[in-house]
Amino acid sequence: MTAISTQGLEKRYRGGIHALRGVDLQVDRGEIFGLIGPNGAGKSTLVKVLLTIVRRTSGTASLLGQPVGHRPTLAKVGFLPEHHRMPRYLTGRQAVLYYARLLGMTKREREHRADEMIDIVGMGHAAHRKLGTYSKGMQQRIGLAQAFVNEPELVVLDEPTDGVDPVGRVEIREVLLRMRERGTAIFLNSHLLSELETVCDRVAIMLEGTVRRQGTPAELSGNPKWRLSYQGDAVAGHDSNDFHFEGDEHQAQRELDLARQQGRVITHFAQEPISLEELFLAEVRDQQGDQP
Ligand SMILES: Nc1ncnc2c1ncn2[C@@H]1O[C@H](COP(=O)(O)OP(=O)(O)OP(=O)(O)O)[C@@H](O)[C@H]1O
Ligand SMILES: [Mg+2]
Repeated sequence: MTAISTQGLEKRYRGGIHALRGVDLQVDRGEIFGLIGPNGAGKSTLVKVLLTIVRRTSGTASLLGQPVGHRPTLAKVGFLPEHHRMPRYLTGRQAVLYYARLLGMTKREREHRADEMIDIVGMGHAAHRKLGTYSKGMQQRIGLAQAFVNEPELVVLDEPTDGVDPVGRVEIREVLLRMRERGTAIFLNSHLLSELETVCDRVAIMLEGTVRRQGTPAELSGNPKWRLSYQGDAVAGHDSNDFHFEGDEHQAQRELDLARQQGRVITHFAQEPISLEELFLAEVRDQQGDQP
């Protein structure tokens, strides 16, 4: 069952900016899906079209199997908008309760879920302070608690780690993983690639209003990269006893065999993490190459 599906989605803003130029995307239930793209690629526009904040120009899209705009479905979707602003005079807890109320949750449910989510996002210590006194990262955490408050089946997060420090980012990733365990599908976008590579089951690269590639980080990156180091001198064919190479498992085994045949003691052998940043930059370079 799909969480989000779009076919040929287009958005042309008044004034002529063609922000979405035929977006085809598929997000499955229960997965964390990341949309990466540079500033102005159309990431927020896509999110806004899905949540009916802006109207699409053409194409089709569905959320949780229902066409975009289906009201009962929107109630099952959590949302953290880009640069969200909440009333400064509310405390963190009041803000989360307020959103829970808008979603039509009962008082008991609201109180139970608000406290649970505030705890999960690590804001228990400041829940009774006013939002106006929060740092950016604290506001962002309350924003997340709000997005998950009604146990949505799908959550859409526009730049969830915006303004959050590195420790907070790691914590937010942990929150996302916890929510996925409960079966929530998470669609998030970011221009920070490192945010996405560790948590996303699948990613899409968006450039100038179209999705260029989508798949698992492994699918997008092609052959894995490896690092091998051993004691002693470099064996014939290598300049160093500590080096990186690209290739499939068989090539990796050949490199190991070669070092062992020469009597080297292997000190490190591992697959290097896939770098979305490299992939992404390659895609941007390709695109620039396409232009006259
Ligand atoms: N309300 C609007 N009216 C007209 N043009 C808009 C509007 N909102 C966005 N755009 C334009 O649409 C394009 C895509 O913008 P969008 O905000 O979707 O990008 P983004 O990928 O979210 O970028 P960022 O990483 O900076 O958040 C940009 O050229 C932007 O100027
Ligand atoms: Mg944006």
